[in-house]
Amino acid sequence: EALEVLVFGSAIIDFICYTPRLPKAGETLHGHKFQTGFGGKGANQCVAAARLGARTALVAKLGDDSFGADYLRQLREENVNVEHVQQLSGQTTGVAQIAVSDGGENNIIIVVGANNSLSCSDVTSAATHFAQAKVLVCQLETPIEATLFALRQFKGVSIVNAAPAMEHTPKELLQLASIFCVNESEAALMTGVKSISSVGEANAAMIELMEMGANTVIITLGKLGAVCATKQAPEQYEHVPAPHVDPERVVDTTGAGDAFIGALAFNMARYPQNALTAHIEAACAVASKSVQLPGTQASFPRA
Ligand code: RIB
Ligand code: NA
Repeated sequence: EALEVLVFGSAIIDFICYTPRLPKAGETLHGHKFQTGFGGKGANQCVAAARLGARTALVAKLGDDSFGADYLRQLREENVNVEHVQQLSGQTTGVAQIAVSDGGENNIIIVVGANNSLSCSDVTSAATHFAQAKVLVCQLETPIEATLFALRQFKGVSIVNAAPAMEHTPKELLQLASIFCVNESEAALMTGVKSISSVGEANAAMIELMEMGANTVIITLGKLGAVCATKQAPEQYEHVPAPHVDPERVVDTTGAGDAFIGALAFNMARYPQNALTAHIEAACAVASKSVQLPGTQASFPRA
């Protein structure tokens, strides 16, 4: 059966240290737990969609190390089409060093390794995927030239998750995306709205992103849910609240944004007749489940 969700992007191994609080510069802290996990925004989003039942494929690069081999096996177990996931000889699989505090906050350093080799020629090689998929999903952990090329080729609905944010995002990235989705801090970095902690501030940032060329914008706001707006009627913002989660139950927000994107992609591919706010509501429900379990992919719910 035809592909629903195609993800062109990153795959990274996560090294997660759980710690009472996030360290300050120069500080050494005792953490209380360590865990490795399968991560990277691209693969996370793909697995999130696959777990909900989407027919998915990933186009990504791994190293020829044990991490790469393990990752390929894991993706197959998640029912992801890996025809175009390649292990590159002489390269290392991308890694992320992640600290997660008891309060559920995190910070992350990524060293993307083989992900840097994802190129325009990979779009051409995966042409049959690009011709079939209903929804294409991209992020910013792999080279942007290839992402722009992928978006230019694709004729369906594209979701660009501009994460991690770039300060000088090319306008074309916003223009090519059917849906441009960022979180509050990414939106703040990209716009003149320097801090976003309310729906009003998020709405102001959405206006700027549409002025920069975006067609439809979604800004995710953590426990506040998300806002969206469309170029045709830029001031008709909509706010979709997230289901309430008791703060005591928030254990790890890492990858919650990816759970959101994966669920959004699945819903847009499977139920194209539904309103965007309905898709966002479904995506918020999936993301809020993911924050209640540790890990990234490990915490994503199944249909
Ligand atoms: O969005 C979460 C992801 O960001 C982690 O899995 C980590 O790999 C980083 O890329
Ligand atoms: Na989680």
